[in-house]
Amino acid sequence: MAILPIRRAGDPVLREKAKRVRVIDSSIHKLIEDMWDTMYDAPGVGLAAPQIGVPLRVIVIDVPGHERIALVNPEIVKRSGERRVDEGCLSVPGFRGEITRSVKVVAKGIDPATGKEVRIKAENDLLAQALEHEIDHINGILYIDYLPGPDALIPLEDAPEVRR
Ligand code: NI
Repeated sequence: MAILPIRRAGDPVLREKAKRVRVIDSSIHKLIEDMWDTMYDAPGVGLAAPQIGVPLRVIVIDVPGHERIALVNPEIVKRSGERRVDEGCLSVPGFRGEITRSVKVVAKGIDPATGKEVRIKAENDLLAQALEHEIDHINGILYIDYLPGPDALIPLEDAPEVRR
């Protein structure tokens, strides 16, 4: 078990197009364990490997109402509709922003526990948002890229940085 430092916006690893995982070996299982530990410690509902400095296509998500998901080499296979959502990111601590995400999302990837491909469908919920957010991460995209400018970032009143 390891809780690792979360890389922040400005770190070049967050801007790389992460590499595909070729073999799901013990190093990948260890990476995923570290990602869970780091995500729950933060705490957050999703994490992508580049956020702990590893430029590989691996994501984890744990949102209420759905069993937790680890995906290797995930990709969005279908998305439709638009909705406005409030979004935040562990790599942009202390802020949130309002952006446009899809209503329906279908993603696929390899379940590291079985080595088999799985498809995940989500609609109009936090899971749909998280799938797009985390898969953006492995493509070097942060949600702040969708904001019209830095002024559109909204400070979180209860963020540790401003808590006294
Ligand atoms: Ni994020």
